[in-house]
Amino acid sequence: MKIATVIGARPQFIKAAAVSRAIAAHNRSGASPAIEEILVHTGQHYDDGMSAVFFRELEIPEPQYHLNVGSGSHGCQTGRMLAAIEEVLLREKPDWVLIYGDTNSTLAGALTAAKLHIPVAHVEAGLRSFNRRMPEEINRVVADQLAQLLLCPSQVAVDNLAAEGIGKNEGQSPFFSEKKCPVPVFPPKVVITGDVMANALQFAAARASTQSDILTRLGLRPQGYLLATVHRAENTDNSDRLSNILSAFAALDEPLVFPVHPRTRKVLQASGYHPPNSVKLIDPVGYFDIIALEKSARLLLTDSGGMQKEAYWLKVPCITLRDETEWVETVQNGWNILVGADRDRIVAAVRAFMPPPAHPPLYGDGRAAVHSLKALLNHPLNQEDVL
Ligand code: UD1
Ligand code: UDP
Repeated sequence: MKIATVIGARPQFIKAAAVSRAIAAHNRSGASPAIEEILVHTGQHYDDGMSAVFFRELEIPEPQYHLNVGSGSHGCQTGRMLAAIEEVLLREKPDWVLIYGDTNSTLAGALTAAKLHIPVAHVEAGLRSFNRRMPEEINRVVADQLAQLLLCPSQVAVDNLAAEGIGKNEGQSPFFSEKKCPVPVFPPKVVITGDVMANALQFAAARASTQSDILTRLGLRPQGYLLATVHRAENTDNSDRLSNILSAFAALDEPLVFPVHPRTRKVLQASGYHPPNSVKLIDPVGYFDIIALEKSARLLLTDSGGMQKEAYWLKVPCITLRDETEWVETVQNGWNILVGADRDRIVAAVRAFMPPPAHPPLYGDGRAAVHSLKALLNHPLNQEDVL
């Protein structure tokens, strides 16, 4: 079986590394069918600290295709991806296209595959913020509409899909009789797998303890600092929101480490921002360093999706600099709090937020990569008599 994995942005390298490892283990075990994974890197992220470092640390093989699409407006970037991915898929003719999350690379992978009648499996399906001003929400909604296999981290994700009519009529597709149609118009299959980021975290947590010396390098002591990241367009591209967040950071009387995403770096440079002494701006760091920083932080402030979950798994309280979140379970369980970009709410939360003692497991059993691969192998489209 041939799978083309389309990735391009930082969190996708981390997620795909977990599934690629499961694929390699499947092949090593001699189980049938052998799987050939073709890695396609769109080039959406390209700085060493946003891309190559993850390939090195997470032992991801060199992508067979590097499309070097780079940055641009949504239309330009996605358009370039569509054209380049199409060439690869036409040449490789994979049985499946595997996509992750909600970036423009996700959308381009889904759309190109669907138009070429190649079935799509979507890892992290069913997440919703219900805010269509977010580019990611549009990407997810479209990707989920086009996918034949929807791999969900939680029941909430399954329910979100059901509310959009996805996965409700398994086995009753109006297209079911068209077996001769080359288009895989099988009813979409929805499976709860848990979250592959939990696998990635397991892989990194032990290595972070031995391979990262970032606390020493930055002169930090465990529990003696806050860790912050900000990169969502809704925060970086809105000067009021960004200045409220920065003003809250400045008002805190604790050291704050802030690895700055390149999108944010551009805005901060353009505005001539100078951080106060307590705020330490650093370049984006690799996965072992960020996990080491997260583990020992007193508290996380972030608008990242992945870091809200990592904070939960690492039992670090999280303050989310957004008005809504897709990862509602972390909020419902009291370990994550939504404060938007409101200076006073941010400051008050940093001073007073105390999560409860209870910490139920969330997003699966830590084996989501294996469950995802199994779901793919067991999909009815892989049964020979279907197509
Ligand atoms: C993208 C995703 C977002 C995800 C984030 C992960 C979309 C629409 N957004 O946002 O969902 O959370 O990745 O980090 O796909 N840049 C560099 N070097 C790089 C990459 C980007 O300098 O290696 C700069 C460029 O100026 C670029 C800007 O960052 O224009 C934004 O990059 P882009 O990939 O368009 O979106 P992200 O904000 O990274
Ligand atoms: N991350 C990283 N280095 C950093 C900041 C974040 O490795 O300097 C990791 C983080 O731990 C998480 C992932 O990148 O695993 C999240 O990516 P990002 O916040 O860019 O995107 P999102 O999850 O919001 O889509």
